[in-house]
Amino acid sequence: MTGKNDDNSTGQAMKRMTIGIVVLVVLTALLYLTAPDSFYPWAKAIHVIAVISWMAGMLYLPRLFVYHVEAEKGSVQSETFKVMERRLLRAIINPAMTLTWVFGLWLAWKGFGFQGGWLHAKILAVLLLSGLHGYLAGAVRKFAEDRNEKPARHWRIVNEIPTLLMIVIVILVVVKPF
Ligand code: HEM
Repeated sequence: MTGKNDDNSTGQAMKRMTIGIVVLVVLTALLYLTAPDSFYPWAKAIHVIAVISWMAGMLYLPRLFVYHVEAEKGSVQSETFKVMERRLLRAIINPAMTLTWVFGLWLAWKGFGFQGGWLHAKILAVLLLSGLHGYLAGAVRKFAEDRNEKPARHWRIVNEIPTLLMIVIVILVVVKPF
């Protein structure tokens, strides 16, 4: 696998992702303009789809790190993990997080005027999840430069954090306990 091939296919993945986002934005705008009264449930559906994609990536990335730690530096396996991690972050995790925030904040404003203890607690939990996102993005860079120092056990533990935050967030928004 050459660096040039990597760049080409990453470029293609980015192009497909950009087209996907443009199509989504156009469809969302059309929906909003033609049926503003039924837009709320559509926005919620897009929010949940984005949440599922974000969580899938946040659960998979630390798992990739666990296997990456075990691959010898400079080996074909290690280089393949680098490509997988970079693509997962850029093509799935980053855009999914952005959509989750955009639609989540819109729902919070339109549906609840940013009021409610459950909403404030949820936003706090999502901020923690976003902080973890930043930490994992930094780790992708470190792995890319063969500078990761953390053992597999560390990444196994990190792998549990998004699961715990997701459970708290879903209970807060569905049960709305306070
Ligand atoms: C980025 C910050 C976020 C904000 C401001 C936000 C806000 C909201 C709001 C206001 C709703 C509508 C609730 C209703 O109509 O009853 C909603 C729905 C939902 N959110 Fe979020 N959200 C965010 C991120 C997340 C994340 C990270 C997750 C999961 C890990 C999540 C999971 C859900 C689910 C499952 C629903 C549907 C709940 C239902 O229909 O009962 N949200 N969100």
